[in-house]
Amino acid sequence: MMKGLVLLCSVAALWLQAAVGLPLHTDSRWIVDEQGQRVKLRCVNWVSHLEAVVAEGLSKQPIDEITNRIGSLGFNCVRLTWPLFLATNESLSSLTVRQSFQRLGLREAIAGVQANNPFIIDLPLIKAFEAVVGWLGEAELMVVLDNHISKPGWCCSNFDGNGFFGDQYFNPEKWIEGLTRMATMFNGVAHVVGMSLRNELRGPKQNVNDWYRYMQRGAEAVHAANPDVLVILSGLSFDKDLSFLKNQPINLTFTAKLVYEVHWYAFSDGSSWQSGNPNQVCGRVVNNLMKMSGFLLEQGMPLFLTEFGVDQRGTNVNDNRYLSCFLSVAAEYDLDWAVWTLVGSYYLREGVVGLNEFYGLLDWNWCNPRNSSFLQRISALQTPFQGPGLAERRPYSVMFHPSTGLCVGRASLLDPLRLGPCADSDPWYYTPQKFLTLKGTYFCIQAQEMGKQPRLGIICTVSNAQWDMVSDSKMHLSSKLDNGSVVCLDVDPNTNEIVTNACKCLSRDSSCDPSSQWFKLVNSTRSFDTTRSMISMVGSSLSFNLVPKLFVE
Ligand SMILES: *[C@@H]1O[C@H](CO)[C@@H](O)[C@H](O)[C@H]1NC(C)=O
Ligand SMILES: *[C@@H]1O[C@H](CO)[C@@H](O)[C@H](O)[C@H]1NC(C)=O
Ligand SMILES: *[C@@H]1O[C@H](CO)[C@@H](O)[C@H](O)[C@H]1NC(C)=O
Ligand SMILES: *[C@@H]1O[C@H](CO)[C@@H](O)[C@H](O)[C@H]1NC(C)=O
Ligand SMILES: *[C@@H]1O[C@H](CO)[C@@H](O)[C@H](O)[C@H]1NC(C)=O
Repeated sequence: MMKGLVLLCSVAALWLQAAVGLPLHTDSRWIVDEQGQRVKLRCVNWVSHLEAVVAEGLSKQPIDEITNRIGSLGFNCVRLTWPLFLATNESLSSLTVRQSFQRLGLREAIAGVQANNPFIIDLPLIKAFEAVVGWLGEAELMVVLDNHISKPGWCCSNFDGNGFFGDQYFNPEKWIEGLTRMATMFNGVAHVVGMSLRNELRGPKQNVNDWYRYMQRGAEAVHAANPDVLVILSGLSFDKDLSFLKNQPINLTFTAKLVYEVHWYAFSDGSSWQSGNPNQVCGRVVNNLMKMSGFLLEQGMPLFLTEFGVDQRGTNVNDNRYLSCFLSVAAEYDLDWAVWTLVGSYYLREGVVGLNEFYGLLDWNWCNPRNSSFLQRISALQTPFQGPGLAERRPYSVMFHPSTGLCVGRASLLDPLRLGPCADSDPWYYTPQKFLTLKGTYFCIQAQEMGKQPRLGIICTVSNAQWDMVSDSKMHLSSKLDNGSVVCLDVDPNTNEIVTNACKCLSRDSSCDPSSQWFKLVNSTRSFDTTRSMISMVGSSLSFNLVPKLFVE
């Protein structure tokens, strides 16, 4: 029976993680390493704050399988959640993993941990937590410790007693004591790069004055105990609202270590995505996001999107529509982020043993990815587009297609435009005249016929070469055919080739999904393979004869 619990998953054992010089600090809105190079945090949330107070999944797979899997899927960090009482209640933190499961009646979890991770079963909870952090370091993953709640259990509601300073389980003095203990414990552990001071402040007691009073104290306490970690602060109303910072900056004695965090789910806006027109909802929700938190980027403050996620079965329309809009924003602002969640299933959540997590990256057994198309889409966000240390001086645009996570490019000059991996897509300029020109050339995208591919032409003065960003999402790229018909860029789902079609569901209609026509022009200074586009152009005698001077730079 025990043997049967050890499931072997195949995980690519090796991957290349670029060496990051730790500790991290901030440089205006960017998180950078010792050398001042941008480090893009692309993290998974790993839950360790529920009743058992053990990192989830250790009954399903050996921990090194799990940590290697995280790295092989392209993530470089884990936001590891912990309940405050783990750091403040010694009769809790000294329970062993076995005892903690026993008191909850979780016999299968005990057998599973014994089989997969026997080393951890008789460790006290606090040592087990430390061991998990250690294994993440072994796998060269950075760790952000997130104080998720006080009393172990599922989070978060307005009335769970864990929402705001002064709530039943949220004594500010205990909180500062616990933060100090955690910060001290990991002082000198280089891969622990940040601490989220408190997840999703909320509830009837929340107010701005106490936010400043206690967040400043918490931040100073963490910094004093461990000056190497980034200090990460959550806003009010479930980490949606940091708008108060516009008028009143926080006062801290230290610099270049402060990061704000924000959460954004589909259900943050109820069921608006499903009941409204996706362009209009995307436009409105993003506007609001910029007012509530996104403005910080423009003020030169780092903003870390520490929770987003969707039901990965693909059956939740609200989630599906939100995801395309979310991905476009995460790409446009090149955010640091952490996806909710790594977890495939929980030991015990909300009274259910072995609860399946449909928002989880891994399946119920923690063996395989739950949905590879979801992973493909977010993988487009794993490489930074911009920031200190990136190669190109003059920004160009990447044409990102959020509903696939792919970008617009060509295999060679005479090939049609098609979607492909963003890493080797083509660089574009969106000119003041609204032309989409290929960087380094005179070529621009021109609409030809309804339902047909646009071409790359050199006469970029006609209306069929001008692309307006229409609809509230501003993601439809629209132009006019020679006969006056209006078209939008679209994708042929069978070939992934770019085509022009009638623009769809621009407004009002809530029954249709426009996202195949959504393209986001993302600023990029990523180096790209110039030789690739040059060779393909010079290699084409046709283009050579047509265009005496191909390269304008
Ligand atoms: C400390 O933890 C123990 C074990 O879980 C629990 O019985 C006790 O109520 C906790 N004490 C406080 C003050 O939360
Ligand atoms: C920060 O310090 C300034 C100047 O001392 C003061 O006016 C302001 O109220 C302080 N802000 C907070 C949030 O404490
Ligand atoms: C993965 O997600 C896609 C898109 O939402 C969906 O169509 C597909 O059915 C999902 N696959 C699985 C295995 O759940
Ligand atoms: C992208 O670049 C343009 C032109 O430099 C600039 O106006 C715009 O604000 C940038 N967008 C973002 C999201 O940084
Ligand atoms: C323009 O041509 C397209 C075919 O490419 C046709 O579908 C459309 O109706 C024409 N528009 C006008 C205004 O004639």
